[in-house]
Amino acid sequence: MLRKLVVLAGATFLLSACQPSPSFLNPASSISGHVADLYNTILIMALVVFVLVEGALVLILIRDRHKEGDKLPHQLHGNTNLEIIWTVIPILLVIALFVMTVQTVNAIAAPSPKQGDLNLRVVGHRWWWEFDYTDLGIATANELHIPVGTPVQIALESVDVIHSFWVPQLSGKTDVVPNQHNTMWLESDQIGEFLGQCAEFCGTEHALMRFKVIVESQADFDAWVANQQKPAYQPQTEDEQAAYKELTGTCAACHSLDPSEIDTTKVGPNLAHLFSRSTFAGGSFDLNEENLRSWLKDTQSMKPGNDMEITIPQQQFDSIVEYLMKLK
Ligand code: CUA
Repeated sequence: MLRKLVVLAGATFLLSACQPSPSFLNPASSISGHVADLYNTILIMALVVFVLVEGALVLILIRDRHKEGDKLPHQLHGNTNLEIIWTVIPILLVIALFVMTVQTVNAIAAPSPKQGDLNLRVVGHRWWWEFDYTDLGIATANELHIPVGTPVQIALESVDVIHSFWVPQLSGKTDVVPNQHNTMWLESDQIGEFLGQCAEFCGTEHALMRFKVIVESQADFDAWVANQQKPAYQPQTEDEQAAYKELTGTCAACHSLDPSEIDTTKVGPNLAHLFSRSTFAGGSFDLNEENLRSWLKDTQSMKPGNDMEITIPQQQFDSIVEYLMKLK
């Protein structure tokens, strides 16, 4: 049993060493950096208090244990000096915590919006994230591209229940509340991919309401935007025509094939550049042919309770899969 535990602990340690943890203690922005600093300072203060208090307790327990032949010790009541000390020290500690917290809150407060910021609207749906680049006229889902070193001003909206937008390495959590306009900001100083997660229980698939923030160089971001602004791939062959007809017909009730159609009432994500993403269904699955086929056959077995309950007509199944895969 012990050996198993040691092996498990070792494996966990090795795995966590290979993959940087998506935690705020591994910050990639000044916001998470400030929060991590505050956390570490408080942790160290708490450790010092713990060691001193518990150390004194253990020491006294050992030193002053009742021994054979001991008489009743001297009885006393009240010790003014001692009581002043253990009242004043915690008060000083709490004041220090308060000052550091206020400083951190100020340091991470949103800077006033300015020219050159990226303005975004993030919309929570059960159970996926819509990302609207309102200035750039594009809508996408589940993968948020931002340029490195640029402040991103985010307006948060929900079309159904309360969600919470959280990218631990980049920002704190902000609730996404129906009929309320919450805002937040973030700015990454590192190129890379950072995991995000809905942080407010919002139904059965809350855990599968994930997303990714992809921080790119300005040039890579511009190239991504240029591609997203292009119209979706147009059908060439007869099969593609049939798939296109279905996708702009029945499927259009929930999905758009127009990347510039920013419409929060659509129940499902914009599909114009579906295969420019690496995951789908709220960042739940890798986007590849195999997973897409399983999804279209039976979405409910992969993510029970999601809104896509449609069955694709058998004769169009292959052509729809093939057409979707061309939407890069
Ligand atoms: Cu959305 Cu939890």
